Amino acid sequence: MQEKSKIVVAAAAAAAAAAAAYYFYRRYRSKPEGKQVKKVLRSAYQPSPYQIETVSLNFILTEEEAVVTSELKMTGPKTSPPPLYLDGERSQLTLRSITINGKKLVEGQDYVLGAEEGLTVLAPPTTSFDLSIVVATKPQDNTQLSGLYKTSGNYCTQCEAVGFRRITYFLDRPDVMSKYTVRVEADKELHPVLLSNGNETARGELAGGRHWATFEDPFKKPCYLFALVAAKLQKIESTFTTCSGRKVDIKIWSEPENVDQLDWAMTSLKDAMRWDERVYGREYDLDVFHIVAVNDFNMGAMENKGLNVFNTSCVLAKPSAATDADFERVQGVVGHEYFHNWTGNRVTCRDWFQLTLKEGLTVFRDSGFSADMTSAAVKRIEDVRVMRAHQFVEDAGPMAHPIRPESYLAIDNFYTVTVYEKGSEVIRMYHTLLGAAGFRKGMDLYFERHDGQAVTCDDFRAAMADANGRDLTQFERWYQQAGTPTVKAVGVYDAPKKSYSLTLSQSTPATPGQPTKLPFHIPVKIKLLDEQGKCLLDERVLELTEASQTFTFDAIPSAPVLSLLRGFSAPVKVDMPLSDATLELLAAHDDDAFNRWDASQQLASRVILSLITQWQKAPDSAARDALKVPEPFIKAFRATLVANGLEPSLQAYALTLPDYSVLAQEMAPIDPDALVGVLRLVRRSLAIQLRTEFSAAYTALAPPKGEKFTVAAEAVGRRRLRNVCLEYLAMIGDEKSIALSLAHYKDATTMTDYLAALKAVDPYPGAARDEVSSTFYARAKDNKEALVINKWFAVQASTFAPDALQRVKALMMHEAYDSTNPNRVRSLVSMFANANPAGFHSLDGSGYEFIGSQVLEIGQRNSQVAARLCSVFSAWKKYDAVRQGLMKAQLVRIRDTPGVSKDVFEIASRSIEG
Ligand code: ARG
Ligand code: ZN
Repeated sequence: MQEKSKIVVAAAAAAAAAAAAYYFYRRYRSKPEGKQVKKVLRSAYQPSPYQIETVSLNFILTEEEAVVTSELKMTGPKTSPPPLYLDGERSQLTLRSITINGKKLVEGQDYVLGAEEGLTVLAPPTTSFDLSIVVATKPQDNTQLSGLYKTSGNYCTQCEAVGFRRITYFLDRPDVMSKYTVRVEADKELHPVLLSNGNETARGELAGGRHWATFEDPFKKPCYLFALVAAKLQKIESTFTTCSGRKVDIKIWSEPENVDQLDWAMTSLKDAMRWDERVYGREYDLDVFHIVAVNDFNMGAMENKGLNVFNTSCVLAKPSAATDADFERVQGVVGHEYFHNWTGNRVTCRDWFQLTLKEGLTVFRDSGFSADMTSAAVKRIEDVRVMRAHQFVEDAGPMAHPIRPESYLAIDNFYTVTVYEKGSEVIRMYHTLLGAAGFRKGMDLYFERHDGQAVTCDDFRAAMADANGRDLTQFERWYQQAGTPTVKAVGVYDAPKKSYSLTLSQSTPATPGQPTKLPFHIPVKIKLLDEQGKCLLDERVLELTEASQTFTFDAIPSAPVLSLLRGFSAPVKVDMPLSDATLELLAAHDDDAFNRWDASQQLASRVILSLITQWQKAPDSAARDALKVPEPFIKAFRATLVANGLEPSLQAYALTLPDYSVLAQEMAPIDPDALVGVLRLVRRSLAIQLRTEFSAAYTALAPPKGEKFTVAAEAVGRRRLRNVCLEYLAMIGDEKSIALSLAHYKDATTMTDYLAALKAVDPYPGAARDEVSSTFYARAKDNKEALVINKWFAVQASTFAPDALQRVKALMMHEAYDSTNPNRVRSLVSMFANANPAGFHSLDGSGYEFIGSQVLEIGQRNSQVAARLCSVFSAWKKYDAVRQGLMKAQLVRIRDTPGVSKDVFEIASRSIEG
């Protein structure tokens, strides 16, 4: 009886703790095997009743296990303290001991362990106390790559969002910020490099070939920014002197075979440090900054304080192994993680629903950095391409969520294009509404108010509003409502009055859980042009806040052409029927580079969509083959191709047709065969009819003999444009064009060119393809260039070929395939699912069945990678009935598989219900 009631009390207390301290968990859903998955709600946020002032961690790393001792200075309520709930994943942690103020706690009496997660101290002392916990984990068995894990013999950590609870029992939530000291002990021979956040304070040797080091991070931080590395690595190093004259040591680490590929990251980091000082007045705050590159990493990179950990794919770059796009990505991601030091680390998120507070803002900052380092116009086009091809799709499907979501089962599922890229577009709208100077005032106030705090998106918006004396109440809707608004524009010119009135109206489609929408506050940048493209009305920002508004402009001498949504001033779709002639005028003469490009894309879309209708009506393949690309389009395309004096990158993008994903959004239902077929037809027709022009441009753009490699925008543009020409010419597929691709490969000195050649020959079985493909792979293998091998897989997974799936399956047997390495899985399996619409959407369902099986198989090891792969099925309702049925069947199969992770379960179940 005694014993039993104790347990009942303990259980009741634990339940109370879960309700009170474990702030958001409210609603539950059942998974098939009857386990309950907690749904976390934004509305249920409660501040933590306990804080952790200081954290002292000791890691003893041996080959069998990692023993982690944490000593926490806790503070809590002065009276009637509630039970103390600590997060922790029981499957990962073996609890060795727990003490409070030196007194050992007893299970069932002083604390209880949750069946799967959590530890509840039933009656903690008041005010402040010392909590000490010892656990053991097995990093070598941690295939999720979250928490402390060991791959290729190296230890590293990934704690965002909720990985720290896989290292020890803790208050794993970002509004608990503490000062950390860390000690790491490991074998010196196997793990010579020991790193953690902040400054190294001491180091020493131990008996048995072991060594240790201690670290101190003077800044308070949430545990998701904790990091540790114990590894065999080499480095490059340099220093940076900050604007106030402090010297910072910079060290960039990677495996020995990669050290010749780290210089670009170093250059990029220093550029980023300088840029943040110049543009935002933000200086680096520690004496040392480390970047560590690892092969096995779930995402791009992680901004741990003073110790960024990167996927090798976002660090390594050298001309012979990295494309120009890779160089740009490295620059962008190095900048992104560095910029987090202020937007994310010094000012962090109160809870994970606020993720866009740091991610949207930091993407905005990194794209400003990239724009300044490369070409602003090109960067803008690239960013909008991502928005349209990926974010608009997410926003129109069952996973649609506002940039600040309202609920989740697995927060890792919300590191999305919506939170990141649309989040960045929302920040950009503040910038557009307030101007550069007003935006900077808002940022300064934000840092002044919130340095050292964990805050919300509302705090950010308040800083922007207060610094500028603006009312931004309505602007909150960008954080509340999902879906892509459409802005419709109708312009009327009154010739006698010489006035032009523009009526803008907005509407946003329903999204799951949000049947109706309120009007957004939309900055619409416009300019009026005449028929020659000359200015009739200067550029200005119209603020559309109602469902419909009319703006009138006087003293407009002649009927104007409207240049609308310049620079893509808001993440919306535009509905404005323009004649082909007007689009051609805008494509040629609009002084907004983005709008010129956009007009060219609209012209191409029209042609392609109308051919798709004809394709679908065609009775047989002969009729389909006979379809003709309209003459005026070919003429306009030719004009762009032979135009002189254009920035080559802009010319290249103008010559690139809208891709599958963008065009598919214009079709209901999506017909993958017609879409893929017509895209190929148009590309081939352009290539055949403009072969002379493409060849001439290709030849003229050849790099001067002995040209030194540079990533200057101009050189990148030339390579980009030349490879666009090659890509078209390769579509012809005759002997001459294959010979050209082979010659391109043989002359190549950069990965940009090697890869372009590999793609060009890939669809054509034969000697040229055999030669290019085998030497490409052999060289990468000899040089131990894993990222280059990924490219080799990716090309084969994505190029058009009827036997694509067979090739992919065969490649999974290849000596280089490794299903435990996320980059490799993405390069083959995810690439097939995302970039091979003909193969994936094959009407016999074989592509779906393959990917469904892969989701389940990969999910047994790594739920984050599997969940991301699963989301390729989310668009199922946009397809025809047969495909819908086949895709849904895979989703149901995945959802109902016993033991499926909550990450995968959430994507599958939401996709089905949505
Ligand atoms: N904060 C990192 C970045 O964007 C990404 C962390 C992603 N974590 C995750 N579990 N998906 O820089
Ligand atoms: Zn980030």
